[in-house]
Amino acid sequence: MSPVRVFQCSRLEGTVYLPGDKSISHRALLLGAIAQGTTTVSNFLPSGDCLATAGALRDLGIEVVLPDSHTAIVHGRGLRGFRCPEKPVNCVRSGTTMRLLTGLLAAQPFESTLTGEEQLLRRPMERVASPLRQMGAHICTMNGYAPIIITGQNLRGACLALDVPSAQVKSAILLAGIYADSPATLLEAAPTRDHTERMLGAMGVNIDIRESKGIREITLIPPTHPLLPLEIKVPGDFSSAAFILAAALLAPQSRVRIKDVGINPTRIGFLDVLYQMGADIRIAGERIMANEPVADLEVQTSELEAVEIKGDLVVRMIDEFPILAVLATQARGRTIVRDASELRVKETDRIATVVKELKRLGARIEERPDGFEIWGPSQLRGIPVSSHGDHRLAMSLFVAGLVAQGETVIDDLDCAADSFPGFLTVMQSLGAHYVQY
Ligand code: S3P
Repeated sequence: MSPVRVFQCSRLEGTVYLPGDKSISHRALLLGAIAQGTTTVSNFLPSGDCLATAGALRDLGIEVVLPDSHTAIVHGRGLRGFRCPEKPVNCVRSGTTMRLLTGLLAAQPFESTLTGEEQLLRRPMERVASPLRQMGAHICTMNGYAPIIITGQNLRGACLALDVPSAQVKSAILLAGIYADSPATLLEAAPTRDHTERMLGAMGVNIDIRESKGIREITLIPPTHPLLPLEIKVPGDFSSAAFILAAALLAPQSRVRIKDVGINPTRIGFLDVLYQMGADIRIAGERIMANEPVADLEVQTSELEAVEIKGDLVVRMIDEFPILAVLATQARGRTIVRDASELRVKETDRIATVVKELKRLGARIEERPDGFEIWGPSQLRGIPVSSHGDHRLAMSLFVAGLVAQGETVIDDLDCAADSFPGFLTVMQSLGAHYVQY
């Protein structure tokens, strides 16, 4: 763990390509593992979390090869190709790995245990175990947390309403549904990211999606044929782009272009909020990559106004609240975030940690049970702060450091590599100054 000292920045300029989307990279490995044949994933994200998925699949007998730092090759062994793991499968700090694997393993003919590092062992797992039990799964959690013990069963179809608006829970149910004896239907009141549905569709799985009266109904018909392997290029991660967009909006006289960013509508609630705040961001060259919409984003320094965020919009920008909070410290007026208590069960309690660290920097921010309120603009002052080992808080504090007077020292930015390896190099290429010890 090496602290990073960040200096106030006068200008950011340039064009960058980002590493691949984290959610899509995870899914490409997991679905590639149960396809019949070889899946090749380019612009794969070699982040801590996605490498945890690769490691877990190897423990399950799947050959995953990383020939270079941006390519993954998965030698899929078909729907019934997993081997019983010899030891507990380590999901490290990755919630996506643990929750999606729980769905897949619920239907395998062996017992397996999923575990991970302390940060992951503090995150709720009943949200995934409970609906899977309704499909016939045998899953034991430790009072709601991992380690999780899964005894594979023959699963049945079910019609389930999602209690928590979570793409991880939805995906676990869909993955289990592949093995069920009849269709699995899911009802979503707030649409969550739909990368699993898109990828399963491209692999030949019959998924029917309807929308009526604000409810999304997703039905998966269990396939009677092998899943097709994929050859995909993963779009740049919008959640990583969010830090660059924010930095360029705040640093004076900045102009930055981010190439090939995923703009899946279920992911870009933050972009809608930035427009409401008055951000100057242009979307150019919209196209399709790996069954997902992508575009180049061009952003310039902008004067920002406060916003109110609540309801379904929260779900479409669930990972962007730490960086939204930094932007709000520089926006005119009172920014209000409500309906976001889900933030309390992310890598850290992101309501508590964001409020604590931004207060240290001089922000006027107050915690609420389901969000926070921020009064801006306020002049931030550089001071030692902590990322609490949370990748998105670490990168948000770095961006805050670019606008704070003096020097901001962040105790641990290595954790940024959980989702955005190369973050510091990208920021440096745009003109940010920092020193790492
Ligand atoms: C993810 C879903 C979200 C998000 C996480 C990745 C996914 O979590 O916060 O970073 O890949 O499905 P929830 O589904 O728990 O909201």
